[in-house]
Amino acid sequence: MSQPVRYEVGAEMAARAHIDRAAYQALYRRSIEDPSGFWAEQAQQFVTWSRPWARVLDWDYQIPRIRWFEGAKLNVAYNCLDRHLASRGDRTAILWEADEPGETRAVSYRELFDAVCRFANALKARGVGKGDRVAIYLPMVPEAAVAMLACARIGAVHSVVFGGFSPESLKDRILDSDCRVVVTADEGLRGGRHVPLKANVDAALLACPRVHTVFVVRRTGRSIAWQAGRDLWYHETVASADPECPPVEMDAEDPLFILYTSGSTGKPKGVLHTSGGYLVYAAITHRYVFDYRDGDIYWCTADVGWVTGHTYCVYGPLCNGATTLMFEGIPTHPNPGRFWEVVDRHRVNILYTAPTAIRANMAQGDAWVQKSRRTSLRILGTVGEPINPEAWEWYYRVVGDRRCPIVDTWWQTETGGIMITPLPAVVTTKPGSATIPYPGIVPELVDAKGNKLEVGGGFLTIAQPWPGMLRTIFGDDERYREIYWSRFPDRYFTGDGAKLDEDGYWWILGRVDDVLNVAGHRVGTMEVESALVDHPAVAEAAVVGRAHDLKGQALAAFVTLKDGQNASDGLKDDLKAHVTQKIGAIARPDDIFFSADLPKTRSGKIMRRLLKDIAEGRALGDTTTLADPNVVSRLKEMYEARET
Ligand code: PRX
Repeated sequence: MSQPVRYEVGAEMAARAHIDRAAYQALYRRSIEDPSGFWAEQAQQFVTWSRPWARVLDWDYQIPRIRWFEGAKLNVAYNCLDRHLASRGDRTAILWEADEPGETRAVSYRELFDAVCRFANALKARGVGKGDRVAIYLPMVPEAAVAMLACARIGAVHSVVFGGFSPESLKDRILDSDCRVVVTADEGLRGGRHVPLKANVDAALLACPRVHTVFVVRRTGRSIAWQAGRDLWYHETVASADPECPPVEMDAEDPLFILYTSGSTGKPKGVLHTSGGYLVYAAITHRYVFDYRDGDIYWCTADVGWVTGHTYCVYGPLCNGATTLMFEGIPTHPNPGRFWEVVDRHRVNILYTAPTAIRANMAQGDAWVQKSRRTSLRILGTVGEPINPEAWEWYYRVVGDRRCPIVDTWWQTETGGIMITPLPAVVTTKPGSATIPYPGIVPELVDAKGNKLEVGGGFLTIAQPWPGMLRTIFGDDERYREIYWSRFPDRYFTGDGAKLDEDGYWWILGRVDDVLNVAGHRVGTMEVESALVDHPAVAEAAVVGRAHDLKGQALAAFVTLKDGQNASDGLKDDLKAHVTQKIGAIARPDDIFFSADLPKTRSGKIMRRLLKDIAEGRALGDTTTLADPNVVSRLKEMYEARET
């Protein structure tokens, strides 16, 4: 194989960055030789504690039990707001760009502090206290950050649900963590389309009798249904609320938030993060990975409904006193030059986005980018899925004008923050590789038996604990142990396959479980299969991923109908709509293929591997374990006939 292209660190970057190559090497070595000393130092530097810890780390992988900064006290909202007021109260904390171009709002640290205190009091007035769960189902508006920080201020645990999820998905998440209060908006606005958030909440709450309060942010002003006594306008409540709200002193290990993510069963898992370790990890990675400098305009395009939005739109940047740009819209509205217009309008220095968005922009041609100047840009980042080298090169050459280093950051909802990444002044990059571990992170490649490998392909595990790691799956410690800690003893299993090259660079190959990555979002095949078989016409369904130019992966569903049901294009559309309604548009299959039989082993297990071969047009893999090898060859012929 030819050697991949390499990009050296630029001279200016090397001269000015927080961490250069020598500093990284010293820091990494220290982080491995004396992890407690290293993390204690980081925790002291980045976070203000009201009481120090008795012990930096207490961990036992057998149980498993991991506690960071034991005994220490802090408040996350205090760290993101109060402590900045004296030095930068008038600085913009959140710079908001609406779906419609040019409609913007700048919320200063003082204003954000005031809104958070007031809304925290409004929550308290409705009985929300320490440890209670609050569901947040909002569009990308500053009030989403206000609601998250207000929870953090009083010790409530937020569960943000992405606004693209259906009422049913929202209902499942509300019930799983027993949220009694929901924060939403009348509607969302994305690419000019109205998203009926409040109507979705109303539908979800039909099955959530314990929810007694719904705060509604007025975004579009369209008329909505109203349940007196339960529903409250956010703006009215905040206007009349007391502006004084002292932060509640929290234990470092008290929960901060729950965030649901897809796994390999039909039921999403509530990943639980705690306060102290998460905040330390969010803040240090935000500062060093993006080489954040005081006064920078920093833009992470992720929605707050995903972990990237939690860590790198809200907690990391605000803990560091940064200006974080929040964008309500989409890259193609009202035209495909939108991202670059926003970059120029706000003089964005750091841009962090996803390969899907990069590929979507790339597909529109260079002219849309070249209409803008982009001279403010200094660092470019990517996250969420493997980036193909072509898209990387385009991002580097066209968007960054060959001036801006790219940080391809690998991490997960579970890891809390970035784990494997170049640091901009440290690492020679190779397009497509997430490169090397962040200080304090010890990734190890293992084979199926758990033997450590020095080079080649295998499973990506993490051998040492880090402060940002998840602590459990909400309400299900056993599932947590089983998923992350049982496959390889004494290591965290990421669920990703990876390759380690001769230079020690990591190349992430993607999920090895039944989870797909569609447009950077995790979708469990079992969830989609459950939604399909829930349709009255469907007897059986198997869902696999196939390669897709823009989305990375697309969903292909093989469906067996019940006796007497007729396969038709109308039914296909119906099934797609059914999945959208059950889960949300991100889980809508691209292809539906009707088949009288599915390939199964003699014990009745569907062989998804073979279906994937069919969906991707490859030669079939080993079929010897099939109960009836003819099923799969017939299916392949029919599938291919369909495509021509
Ligand atoms: O497969 C990896 C992929 O996304 C998964 C995590 O998804 P989620 O928890 O939704 O978090 C996404 C944002 C952090 C991982 O297991 N992934 C994430 N970043 C990369 C990636 N794959 C390759 N390269 C990346 N930079």
